[in-house]
Amino acid sequence: MKGLILSGGKGTRLRPLTYTAAKQLVPVANKPILFYVIDNLAQAGIRELGIIISPETGELVQEAVGDGSRWGAAITYIVQTEPAGLAHAVQVARPFLQDSPFVMYLGDNLIQSSITPFLSDFQREELDALVLLKEVDNPRQFGIAEVNGQGRLLRLVEKPQDPPSNLALVGVYFFTPAIHPVIDTLTPSWRGELEITDALQNLLRSGKKVGWRRLEGWWLDTGKKDDLLTANTLVLDTLGQRDLQGEVDDASQITGRVSLGPGSRVVNSIIRGPAAIGAGCLIVDSFIGPFTSIGDGSRVEASVIEHSVILAGACISRVDRLEDSLLGRNARVARHNSRRSLQLLLGDDAVVEL
Ligand code: G1P
Repeated sequence: MKGLILSGGKGTRLRPLTYTAAKQLVPVANKPILFYVIDNLAQAGIRELGIIISPETGELVQEAVGDGSRWGAAITYIVQTEPAGLAHAVQVARPFLQDSPFVMYLGDNLIQSSITPFLSDFQREELDALVLLKEVDNPRQFGIAEVNGQGRLLRLVEKPQDPPSNLALVGVYFFTPAIHPVIDTLTPSWRGELEITDALQNLLRSGKKVGWRRLEGWWLDTGKKDDLLTANTLVLDTLGQRDLQGEVDDASQITGRVSLGPGSRVVNSIIRGPAAIGAGCLIVDSFIGPFTSIGDGSRVEASVIEHSVILAGACISRVDRLEDSLLGRNARVARHNSRRSLQLLLGDDAVVEL
């Protein structure tokens, strides 16, 4: 069994962060989303991994993930020169996949459950494909399944105008090599992509065994700011643990599940978990509220931060209250008492809500 992780794409919905980083590398609870994906595959015993990368962000992905030895996995990087669809990615990965069955896992999908039980079902029932389904509120934005009263999968359709149900295809799929000849007959969809949903639909129509399971627990497609903040909240809430490696002075108070990386210092501050603070941070005279992640090497001074994701190297000074915010690497936010006007230096696509 091999794993194929999709970590290409342009990440347009997470701009400006994705001008300088791949969306799959944006951290949730201070760990890149892509690392949760690799964890899940490695824990299921899948150690031969192919990662699809784009020419734009591929190098960053390779730098972050390395050769996979951290997971006891062997990683092959595969460049997809243009984002021409999920089925196109499988086509490009063919020399890596050869005739092996594989799990395809979208590198920006975060799921709470382990994939191990689904992998066992897929193998035991000798299915040609197994998909995971989950109810969503906005079925027009996903691949959607139609399932009959007896639980039989009838049809799969990509981003339907008129959705037959609210059961969406989660970005984790199990395939045998039977998917390859079907992909070779696809033509691009209205959005110009070779859709894996169309390939699955054709597989189903040709009488192959396509199974499905309902995904329990949360699933997040982390492509947008609010989804990312929600992911951060859920991960901190369910996976976070108390782990204080930095220094906390006597005037400070830490409650709940807080992780504090090595070399970090907390001075005269309150940190209320769940929260994750990276390595080499300095938190002074501040309040860090629940559901906040602060990346390595950040500095927070005389400020209040809640329900936010702050990437590495940030500097936040004298800010009365920062909440529901997502700050990119090395961002600086400071208030100067003497000035009444705002003084901004914002990158392309920056958003400021006052
Ligand atoms: C892709 C698939 C869609 C699936 C979704 C899950 O959508 O095409 O069927 O439901 O991933 O994240 P995209 O992210 O390309 O819009």
